[in-house]
Amino acid sequence: MTIANAVAMAHRLLADKLATARTVVDATAGNGRDTLFLAANTPGDAVVWAFDRQQAALDNTARLLAEHGLGGKCRLVADCHSRLGDYVSGPVDAAMFNLGYLPGGDHGFTTCAASTVAALGCLTGLLAPGGLVTVVAYHGHPAGCEENAAVAEYLAKLPQTAFAVAAWRMLNQRNRPPILYIIGRTGRETA
Ligand SMILES: C[S@@+](CC[C@H](N)C(=O)[O-])C[C@H]1O[C@@H](n2cnc3c(N)ncnc32)[C@H](O)[C@@H]1O
Repeated sequence: MTIANAVAMAHRLLADKLATARTVVDATAGNGRDTLFLAANTPGDAVVWAFDRQQAALDNTARLLAEHGLGGKCRLVADCHSRLGDYVSGPVDAAMFNLGYLPGGDHGFTTCAASTVAALGCLTGLLAPGGLVTVVAYHGHPAGCEENAAVAEYLAKLPQTAFAVAAWRMLNQRNRPPILYIIGRTGRETA
């Protein structure tokens, strides 16, 4: 295995789970690269839910999916990911968060601590036993730093009988590289 950036590592960690997934979530669709990854690596009858508050992001995502013939299995939702429980009934097998701003878009419009933590709370409640969530957090700017602290605080308090939580980051990279969090539901709480 080679060591890659945080998003590529998230993809690798999710790949096995996606092979048998029925319901997956991209909490931050952006330009659609993660949505495309989820759609391309799940069975044909899986449903991929993708959320973004910016219509421009969803338009980009829809275009990318259409180019790959994968739009049919995706549900694109123009709403805050903190409300994903209004759309997704679960159980969710896998989910991704790639926090921050839309690349090529308005850098002032970013994910924020309160709604990200609310969305994580919702998703952990919907997660199937054995399910996985990845979060890539960019803490190199003030808002991202605050958001990352809130995410880390929330995740550290998840009960260890129900969830296994890990963090991964490059140690020798300049400019505060992103942190990848991995949350797995153990299923032990029902044993
Ligand atoms: C770093 S980008 C995501 C990159 C994307 N996954 C990709 O593969 O291109 C972050 C996205 O989160 C979106 N976003 C910000 N706040 C949000 C919220 N509360 N709910 C859903 N999406 C949000 C932004 O509009 C932006 O498009």
